[in-house]
Amino acid sequence: MGFCGKMCHLLFMRLLPILVVAVAAFIGWLGSQEVPEGTFFATLIPVLGGYLPPPITGPWTTPGTKEVPADLAPVPRPVGEILLKLPGGSQMPANGLGMCCRPTAYDPESVRRTVLWYLLLGGRHIDDADVYWNHGPVGEAIHEGVARGVPRSEIFVTTKLFPRFYGQNATVTAVHRFLKELGLDYLDLVLMHAPAHPLGAYGECVGKSYKECRQETWQALSSLRAQGLIREIGVSNFNVRQMEEIRELQAAPIAANQFQFNPWVPDWLLETYAYCQQHGIVVTAYASLGMFFQKAQTETVATLKDLASTHGKSVSQVLLRWALQKKVSVIPGTGNPKHMKENLEVYGFQFSDAEMASIDALRSDPSGKAFFFTPQDDS
Ligand SMILES: NC(=O)c1ccc[n+]([C@@H]2O[C@H](COP(=O)([O-])OP(=O)(O)OC[C@H]3O[C@@H](n4cnc5c(N)ncnc54)[C@H](OP(=O)(O)O)[C@@H]3O)[C@@H](O)[C@H]2O)c1
Repeated sequence: MGFCGKMCHLLFMRLLPILVVAVAAFIGWLGSQEVPEGTFFATLIPVLGGYLPPPITGPWTTPGTKEVPADLAPVPRPVGEILLKLPGGSQMPANGLGMCCRPTAYDPESVRRTVLWYLLLGGRHIDDADVYWNHGPVGEAIHEGVARGVPRSEIFVTTKLFPRFYGQNATVTAVHRFLKELGLDYLDLVLMHAPAHPLGAYGECVGKSYKECRQETWQALSSLRAQGLIREIGVSNFNVRQMEEIRELQAAPIAANQFQFNPWVPDWLLETYAYCQQHGIVVTAYASLGMFFQKAQTETVATLKDLASTHGKSVSQVLLRWALQKKVSVIPGTGNPKHMKENLEVYGFQFSDAEMASIDALRSDPSGKAFFFTPQDDS
């Protein structure tokens, strides 16, 4: 047998079957999880970042976020902080903390420390979701923050309902589970995470149109809101038509739409932004900083570097300030208290119209096309 013959034999007769069995076992195990999509991301993202996957190997022995000193007292909230008014009367702090999509978002102790740091540093808006696999430690940190002097009434907790749980009964059951996992008696904002499940109709939605399924879910969320279990309800990754379908129900108003919003987003997201502004729907941006995978790339953009040096700020602060000046709420994700502090310090400076236009113009820079963007789900 030649070299290729030996290699091919090893590959096809030994390694490939092991791989097939391992993948099948992984899929079978995922199927046994309460929220398989959450377990999947909590496994994949740490591995892509070079870390052990907590769902498989357990909590990290050395958490990725440093311990919060026992004597650290809460500092005041940022001076000049922007609060965005929502239709149910709540005020959403425009500057939040994102809780997914980086390795530290899935190790329970790192998550607990992250949220506690953020609250003690003056932050008050936490963006979570069922699929982030971390309601438990997020809730623990909220309780610790409250015990250390941060009033619960100031903390704005968002979580998201994944399409696996769309439909009347599934929605009600899931929201009660969220409250239990977080240890809270109300949620400030619950978003429908996406227009539809990526694999098609799911659970109670089988046999219904996507529109029917979303409307039924919205009605269920509206009644949970009327019971006081949720203060505001909203959507995420919805386009204009999908928001109009919800608005035609004349049930509870859409408080917010969360979608990718940075200088490089495609036209459909700019249209979504314009529609939200016109109809009093708060826009919350994700991937403001380019996400875990492309954060470093944003640091190389000359326009952003120049503005950062003119204002004595970082590129992250430039990107966050740009969004805030567009009346958009930001939820940068970080497990690093230094970055949290930096991300909260975006109120003491202002871009001129010309400076804002120079950031807007990055959209037409061909190198910007390399940035990840959310494809439109037009279901
Ligand atoms: N609705 C949806 O479908 C959806 C989708 C994706 C995300 N989200 C939400 O949006 C949030 C934000 O998005 P994202 O976290 O994916 O991306 P992001 O905020 O654009 O970027 C996060 C990355 O930036 C780094 N970072 C943060 N602040 C920094 C700073 N000041 N200097 C240098 N690096 C910094 C973080 O690393 P360090 O940890 O090292 O600081 C992390 O790797 C998520 O956490 C999640 O809550 C929602």
